[in-house]
Order: sequence, then C-alpha cells, then structure tokens
Amino acid sequence: MNVNNVNLEVVSGNASQFPDTGLLEVAFAGKSNVGKSSLINALINRKSYARTSSQPGKTQTINFYNIEDKLYFVDLPGYGYAKVSKTERERWGKFIESYLYERQQLKQILLLVDIRHEPGNNDKMLYDWIVYNGFDPIVIATKLDKIKRSQIDKHVSIIRKSLGITDRKKIVPFSATTKQGKDTLWEIIDDIIEN
Ligand code: GTP
Ligand code: MG
Repeated sequence: MNVNNVNLEVVSGNASQFPDTGLLEVAFAGKSNVGKSSLINALINRKSYARTSSQPGKTQTINFYNIEDKLYFVDLPGYGYAKVSKTERERWGKFIESYLYERQQLKQILLLVDIRHEPGNNDKMLYDWIVYNGFDPIVIATKLDKIKRSQIDKHVSIIRKSLGITDRKKIVPFSATTKQGKDTLWEIIDDIIEN
C-alpha cells in the first residue's frame, strides 16, 4: 500500500476506549525494546511518528494507528520489562490479553523477536497462543542489521526451531535501519486487507 495518511487515533489505557469503526487490525506484539514502534514507523515511512526509545517500556498504552482508513496498526506495550513492579507487569499482561482475546476485528498478530537472541518464555507462550487461537503466525526477526549476513540463516533457524515454526516463509528478517524486509511485510499486510 502507498501510505500517505496515518493518524494516531486512539491511545488507550482502557478497553472501553478502543475504536469502534470496525476496521480490521494488525497488532504488533513482542518483548519490550524489540522494535515494534520502529517497525510501524518504517512501514509508514515516518521517522518517529510512533514513539520509540532506547529505554525499554516506552509504549505502555495500546496505540491505534489508522492507516489510510483501511486498517489499524495496533502498537502493543512490550512485555518482559524487568524494571516495573510485578503488579504493574501483571496489569499490563491482563490489558494486552483483554485486547487479544476479545478483539473481533483483529486479523493478524505480528510477533517480533530480536534476531540475535533465542526467543524467551513469553515469546513462546505468545506464539503458542497465536497458533492455538487460530491466527496465522508471522514472526518478525528484528534488528537484522546487527548481525553479519553470513549469520542470518543460523539465527533464523534458532528462532524457527525454538518456536516450532515449520514454514520458513512465516519468519521475516527485518531491519528498521536498512528497511530490509519491509516490502515482504507490506505484501503480507496487503494480502490481509484484500482477503
Ligand atoms: P517498547 O515500546 O518499550 O515495548 O519498545 P518497542 O518494541 O516499541 O521498541 P522501539 O521501536 O522503541 O525500539 C527500541 C530501540 O531499538 C530503539 O533504540 C530503536 O532505535 C532500536 N531499534 C529498533 N529496531 C531496530 C533495528 O531494526 N535495528 C537497530 N539497529 N535498532 C533498532
Ligand atoms: Mg514501542
């Protein structure tokens, strides 16, 4: 899609504030600091429309980006940020769950993992949840620019095995710095819109 019009429509700390336009939604999930907001910026060709930070835990709300009135990109708060209290972490967990469980218009969950690291328990749980709930799992291996080209296959294969992904096409290496992987992701998103 050629993206010209993007609107951050809803920043929500509360499920009752989710938009009710019925537009389909693609959610970006993953560990804190993995690059969810950076990926959204790359897809919409903006430098810093979605706020990013080198400090984990930047996005604490659920942010709905209206893309050309065709769909929403939903930027979810990252999990696994150690510095917040247990109560806070649990509250976030419940909030994200309430979105994932109840959102009828949610069509695709993109699970982001850092290409450099083996997925953690939270990643595995979310991946299994995605499959179990009948979504088509797409994993995005972020920060591709941080590893040598000769290491890509090795890292992709570690992630694939760890999550139990059988179809190679379901894992997309991506870099917000070089924009590698962006066209592939847009193809996936365009398919979702058309189907
Ligand atoms: P939370 O909102 O805390 O959950 O984090 P997030 O997943 O939205 O991560 P964010 O996009 O804010 O990025 C975190 C840090 O990683 C920032 O310093 C980004 O510049 C950096 N970053 C994100 N993607 C990439 C990438 O592809 N390559 C490199 N080198 N850095 C990246
Ligand atoms: Mg963020």
